[in-house]
Amino acid sequence: MTIEITTFAPFGCRIKGVDFSAPLSVDVKSAIRQAWVDNGIAVIEDCPSDEAHLDLSRCFGEPQPAATAKLNLKSNPYIMALNQDENTPVNLFEVDGEQRTGWLGWHWDQAFMPEIVRGAVLRALEPAKIGGETGFIHGGDAYDRLSPAMKERIDGLDIVYHFNGAQERNRFGYPKSLKLVERDANQAASIEQYMNDFPPVVHPLVITQPESGRRVLKLSPMHVQYVLGWERAASDELLEELAEHLVDERYAYFHSWTKNDAVAWDNWSVIHSAKGVPPGVIRRAQRTTIMGDYKLGRYLDEGLALDDHAERLVD
Ligand SMILES: [Fe+2]
Repeated sequence: MTIEITTFAPFGCRIKGVDFSAPLSVDVKSAIRQAWVDNGIAVIEDCPSDEAHLDLSRCFGEPQPAATAKLNLKSNPYIMALNQDENTPVNLFEVDGEQRTGWLGWHWDQAFMPEIVRGAVLRALEPAKIGGETGFIHGGDAYDRLSPAMKERIDGLDIVYHFNGAQERNRFGYPKSLKLVERDANQAASIEQYMNDFPPVVHPLVITQPESGRRVLKLSPMHVQYVLGWERAASDELLEELAEHLVDERYAYFHSWTKNDAVAWDNWSVIHSAKGVPPGVIRRAQRTTIMGDYKLGRYLDEGLALDDHAERLVD
């Protein structure tokens, strides 16, 4: 099998010609993985089934059930359903004057966990007829764009995150125009429950991408709370400046989906966002979650062990 890899601006690569009719060979997996590491995201065309999705995911590491367990398929906990359809609880926003369901601000996945996953592979089953784009920004490029003074200022800082599923409550790197229009009562109760379930965690603000040695601005605007050990006003000022720098959409790639596209992102170097769809527009997708060996996060409460969450991952 010959695969064709092309890069695009501002970052990322597209991979064509992957034959999913049999398990992927070691060589093909290695080539796909390297392209993903080098480019932060890889768009793989024509991924036709759950089995192909899981085989592709193993290019990047071992899939695991996602932390928000109730989204995982009952038939296969290693695949998470991300749908906007008649069964999706109402969670409607207005952004820049337009109503959107499924809207998500810029984030890396599972910032609210101490051991964040290495990556994820999102596959379109039924792309939205209107909207539904997924955005990506490279945290390594964002770090490179910082001034030398800022790089020095943020060196060694730790950031506290706490689960917040209520997008309108996020304060940094979010559109000022964002408003909640309507939220299903059970959805609102789930958000409060998750806030109790997931204790606050700490992650470094800058990390080193393991394969390339690149420094990465590792800030997730979703769930971020404050700079550990700083006065709140100074912390807010720094986070506001860094988040605005990071979410500069001049440097974003927005993927418009075709059925059976699979997009893999390196969760240690790339943030992403979802533009959502207008009310009533259907969109169906599935995601796998790839474990890694992060070892940089911890619970804020030093009495909690890293594996205290293990049971919840599979419940
Ligand atoms: Fe995400």
